[in-house]
Amino acid sequence: MDPTTVKQQQYDTWRAVASGWKTWAPVMTRLSAPVTAKMIEGLRPGQRVLDLASGVGDPAIAAARRVAPGGSVLGIDQVEDMLSFAREEARAAGVSNLEFRCADAERVDVPPASYDHVTMRFGLMFMPDPVACLTHLRGALKSGGSIHVAVWQGPDVNPWAAIPVSVLRRHVEVPTPPPEAPGLFAFADRTRLEAVCRTAGFAAIHTEAVEVVMVDFATGDEYLRFLCDLAGPIALLLKQVSEASRARVDAEIVREVSAFGGGRPLLPGRVWVLSATRP
Ligand SMILES: C[S@@+](CC[C@H](N)C(=O)[O-])C[C@H]1O[C@@H](n2cnc3c(N)ncnc32)[C@H](O)[C@@H]1O
Repeated sequence: MDPTTVKQQQYDTWRAVASGWKTWAPVMTRLSAPVTAKMIEGLRPGQRVLDLASGVGDPAIAAARRVAPGGSVLGIDQVEDMLSFAREEARAAGVSNLEFRCADAERVDVPPASYDHVTMRFGLMFMPDPVACLTHLRGALKSGGSIHVAVWQGPDVNPWAAIPVSVLRRHVEVPTPPPEAPGLFAFADRTRLEAVCRTAGFAAIHTEAVEVVMVDFATGDEYLRFLCDLAGPIALLLKQVSEASRARVDAEIVREVSAFGGGRPLLPGRVWVLSATRP
C-alpha cells in the first residue's frame, strides 16, 4: 500500500476515536504509567523534548513536568481533534511549557539539532516508512541527544488486543498484512525495531521489556466500550460486524477475555521501550 494511502487510513482511524481517547484519558494514563516512567526517566530540567504521535497528550504532559523549570516540549500529531484535548488537559493541569502542533510525524518541520530528547509512544508502528521517520527525527536531535520509543510486543503477550481480533476473525474478514506493514504489532520483533533504529543512524541502542496491566475492568461492557472508543484498528473491525451478529460477537469477546482474566476483563500487555542516541 502506498504511503499516502497508509497515512490517510491512519488519519481516519485515529480521528474516529479521538473523542474516545478524551473520555478514557485518565484510565490510559494510569494503565500506561510504567511505559511513560521508563520513557521519560532520562529527561532533566531545562531540556527540550519533541514528542511524536502525541494523541491526547500522554506522555508529552508528563515530559513537560519533568523538564521544568527551564525546559519545554513540542508535541506533534496528525489529528487536530486529539491535540485540542491535549491542550485542554495541559491547561487544566497547569502545565504551560509545552505546545502542540498538528503535523505529519515523518515530515515535522523543526530546526535541526535542536532537541535533547525525542519521545514517541505507540506511534512508530503506524509509520509507512519508519526508517525515514527515525532518520528525520535523528536530525532534530542535538549530538548526544536521545530517542525513546515505545511499541507493542507481539499478540501472544498482548491478549487485550489478540483475543478480540481472534474472535473477530471468526465473523468478519480480518486482513493479514505482511509482518512489517504498519499496524499494532509491526514492531513485535525486537530485532527489527533495533535494526530500523540502527539503519536510521542511532547508536547506543538499548531495549527493555515493560509489562503493563492494559485492561482492568469490573465488567465486560466496560471493556467493550474501551475497545470501541480507543483501539482504533480494532474499533474499525467491530464496525464491520453486521447488526445481526454484533451481540454474539460482543458476547464471545467478553466470555473469552473474562475467562483469561479469571472471571473479569483483567489483561496484561507487553511493550518494548527502546532508547538510543544520536552520535
Ligand atoms: C495509539 S495513538 C498513541 C497516542 C499517544 N502517544 C499515547 O501513547 O497515548 C497513535 C497516534 O499516532 C498518531 N499518528 C499516526 N500516524 C501519524 C503520523 N504520520 N504523524 C503524526 N501522528 C500520527 C495518531 O493520530 C494517534 O494519535
